[in-house]
Amino acid sequence: MISDNLIMQIKSKINIEDMISKYAVLKRDGKNNKCICLFHSEKTPSMVVYSDTQSFYCFGCAVGGDIFSFTMKVENLGYIEAVKYLCEIGGIAFDISDRDNQEIETKNTIKNINIDTARFFYNNLKSADGKKAKKYLLNRGFSLNIIKKYGIGYALNSWSSLLDYLKFNKYKLFDMYQAGVIAKSQKGRYYDQFRDRIIFPIIDIRGNIIAFGGRVLDDSKPKYLNSSDTIIFKKSKNLFSMNFAKKHIDRSIILVEGYVDAISLYQHGFKNVVATLGTSLTSEQSRLISRYAKNVILAYDSDKAGEIASLKASNLLSEVGLDVNIIDLKDCKDPDEYITKYGSDRFSIVINNSQNITDFEIYKLKKSIDIDTDQGVSNYIKQAIILLSKIKNPIERDVYILRISRDTNISKDIITSQVNKVIKSDVFKKKKHQYRELTNLTKFNTDNFIRGNDNFLREIKAEQGIIAFIFKNTNNLKDVLSNITIDDFILDIDKKILSSICSLSEKDESMDFSILSKNFSEKEKEYFASILVKFDIISNKKEEIYDYIDILVKHKQRMTTEDIINMDPDKLRDFYINLKEKSI
Ligand code: UTP
Ligand code: MN
Repeated sequence: MISDNLIMQIKSKINIEDMISKYAVLKRDGKNNKCICLFHSEKTPSMVVYSDTQSFYCFGCAVGGDIFSFTMKVENLGYIEAVKYLCEIGGIAFDISDRDNQEIETKNTIKNINIDTARFFYNNLKSADGKKAKKYLLNRGFSLNIIKKYGIGYALNSWSSLLDYLKFNKYKLFDMYQAGVIAKSQKGRYYDQFRDRIIFPIIDIRGNIIAFGGRVLDDSKPKYLNSSDTIIFKKSKNLFSMNFAKKHIDRSIILVEGYVDAISLYQHGFKNVVATLGTSLTSEQSRLISRYAKNVILAYDSDKAGEIASLKASNLLSEVGLDVNIIDLKDCKDPDEYITKYGSDRFSIVINNSQNITDFEIYKLKKSIDIDTDQGVSNYIKQAIILLSKIKNPIERDVYILRISRDTNISKDIITSQVNKVIKSDVFKKKKHQYRELTNLTKFNTDNFIRGNDNFLREIKAEQGIIAFIFKNTNNLKDVLSNITIDDFILDIDKKILSSICSLSEKDESMDFSILSKNFSEKEKEYFASILVKFDIISNKKEEIYDYIDILVKHKQRMTTEDIINMDPDKLRDFYINLKEKSI
């Protein structure tokens, strides 16, 4: 267990504002701070950081919690790891029990398995059995230097060579399996996951080998086999070669589809290159990029699939505020082919000629439509208007409108009015959407906890209000408890929070979000954060608390009436006597 002492030590050293400002720019907003949310894509800040409770909450995506939840989410760590990480930042000695060490230990074991696996594959390449693979790589233009830099290796054509090697190094079967390098058959037999494949180790930004990608040496299928997600690898959150690229990003980063593209560009001097890991770009990956770069040069494959993927990716990237340019690879199918064929200088030119997304889309649109016919012009203009309505900057929009007007001989005013129409309806749609999102927001955090108690929403609101109030005004706890007891609350989660508040106050400890919710799940923490937020907004005064108490007391009495009807005669008599005594 992490001790309360350690938690308080961390919190006294590092406040949540300092931690969050390592990742985002905080702006004052009344007594709190605001920033662009790190957990969903947005351009205007909706993440609020509360100084008094040392918690955060995003009004865009309903993610919230304390400094520990924040660290877990932003750094992709488990709870214990997050505590450890914060200790490192704060220069605090980290001391925990064996049980908690387990999680860190398992992860370390997996990292070590990966290191040994990478080493094994790399050495295979130098052995006699790896001749064919080495030849393949050299044929494709990889230098020995780059092979070493990326730790490229070869998985032997064998079901158990890696297994035997790892066994020899005293690793347990289950750990190898958890690392994803050893697979398990339905009958429970373990075997090498990668066989007769070129291996590309996948390394995270901290330099850990977290997974592998394996390519066949011929045309067999599947061409690439990648590690599945493991406890240290989340495909959607990592980018291949980011560990190298981050040191070479000035403003721009080049985004490619494949391992080979990335390595090939790096070898030719374009070191600010990263690749997605065999899936389309995710918003988490976009945000990772936005932590390092301002501008993304998309160099996806030039086929139709690549083009569609480019447009999708460019939307995601613009959503996090990145500028996006797309390059045209002419007759080549991917950046690797281009640079191998034409060299670095010409690739530089291609980069310099890369088009912004609007140019690119208009260019593609024009290519797909014959604007020499009336029907063609009408089609072209319809689709162009939709494209233009997406341009945020009015001056830039005007430039394009003029261009389309010249292309089609249709008056600029007509195009402008059509574009404005689309924009207006988009803005309306967006506003409506935002409104709905906001009203649904706390619902999202609380729904699961409320389920089955929908008849008691008034009472639930009351108990939540009481919790939010006494959390911040603990000296009123006694007063509240003289009117109601924990059992008068409807929701188990509210009972749990109230009882934590009580036991902290009995121990005479200050109300601290993290200590209080120490044994809560992340969902429970989010619930707690969301009700604090809700009542921070609708202001929570002492007078209102009495209304809330009243609601709960009435509820209790109502229950009693119902109970009376169902009481057995003996109890009913006691109840009656009791009531009579009271009224005397
Ligand atoms: P490509 O088929 O474009 O491969 O897939 P590539 O990178 O150009 O490789 P070479 O030049 O043929 O050797 C692009 C990326 O998509 C993923 C891989 O990450 C690959 O790098 N992919 C592709 C898979 O995950 N599985 C596949 O079967 C194919
Ligand atoms: Mn290729």
